[in-house]
Amino acid sequence: MLLSDYLESFFAGEVAFFHYFMAALPLILLYMFIRDVTNRRQTIKHNFPVIGRLRYLLESIGPELRQYIVASNREELPFNRSERSWIYASAKKENNYEGFGTDKDIYAPGHVFINPSLFPYKPAPGHPSIVDESFVPCAKIMGEYNRRKRPYRPYSITNISAMSFGSLSRNAVIALNKGALTSGCYHNTGEGGLSPYHAYGADVMFHFGTGYFGVRDIDGNFSMQKMVELTQKNSFVRAIEIKLSQGAKPGKGGILPAKKITKEIAEIRGVGMDKDVLSPATHSAFSNVPELLDFIEDIAENTGLPVGFKAAVGRLEMWQELADLMLKRNTGPDFITIDGGGRRHWRGPSFLCRPRLFAHSFCFSECL
Ligand SMILES: Cc1cc2nc3c(=O)[nH]c(=O)nc-3n(C[C@H](O)[C@H](O)[C@H](O)COP(=O)(O)O)c2cc1C
Repeated sequence: MLLSDYLESFFAGEVAFFHYFMAALPLILLYMFIRDVTNRRQTIKHNFPVIGRLRYLLESIGPELRQYIVASNREELPFNRSERSWIYASAKKENNYEGFGTDKDIYAPGHVFINPSLFPYKPAPGHPSIVDESFVPCAKIMGEYNRRKRPYRPYSITNISAMSFGSLSRNAVIALNKGALTSGCYHNTGEGGLSPYHAYGADVMFHFGTGYFGVRDIDGNFSMQKMVELTQKNSFVRAIEIKLSQGAKPGKGGILPAKKITKEIAEIRGVGMDKDVLSPATHSAFSNVPELLDFIEDIAENTGLPVGFKAAVGRLEMWQELADLMLKRNTGPDFITIDGGGRRHWRGPSFLCRPRLFAHSFCFSECL
């Protein structure tokens, strides 16, 4: 077939299609009219069908419009366009340098920069940063101040935060553990218990929350005996973290539905398979700051490991009380993990999304 013949039949087909479309148009309009007239859920479409449809269309493509046309390079959250470009370029091993000039407000409060020196620091021969350029040493020795039997100095200041087996798959946990071993950081178990997949060679921080998974007795309370056994059997567990609160779980606790509980998860967490497993909003082992400090000392005494806690910072009174008591007793947590600063993983009813050291109901009195 000649190209001209082909084009002719193509356009003839398109014209035919156009005719069909025009014939069907009244039916399409009638269908839309009936839908709009009977629409009782979207008043704007019911009263002003054309404007209403336009509004919903614009709303649905709003994120794209804002992202590509309206938003500046530094505007969006959690990652703005400049940050995303840097990530894309780095991941593709392309040039991720910035050229001369910047659209960043370098005078804004909180802008971090490195002060140049007249005589830049010259690492001594054999310095760890010469061997490994990405090495950022951790100056903190957890448990040293409180004279724990097995203090721990993490190799790196950047580590893997709590993500439980159960929320992450077997392969993901293995990959993280192997990655932690390669890069020399520690791997936090998250509150789903210690799984065999955490035992691929990296240092591990054992983390537990109100469900005490892996260290709970038959009634779901904390078991010191299980805690001691766990740390004795697994010498790669180098520190223990008690989860008090988390930005993503604002005071409501958590639930693992029965249908998601596999035999393996049940064994690792020490729970049954027949009903939903609850992580209550509050701890049963302690309920105030003095009791928390006693609990920390008890675990540290029994295991010899550094013990700290994780919390999101909200009201400051309890932190003040904690600091005062630590000063008075000259003891306390060996480290504190602060969560939720970036607010990137918050979920829950929006009025509850304010972190607290202990879950309680002040939000209701404040917000309702
Ligand atoms: C898949 C997943 C599982 C998590 N599991 C836990 C957990 O078991 N316990 C906990 O305290 N935080 C858990 N977190 C929260 C993280 O430890 C961290 O606090 C949170 O992602 C905020 O830090 P980021 O803004 O740096 O991501 C989990 C996060 C993710 C994404």
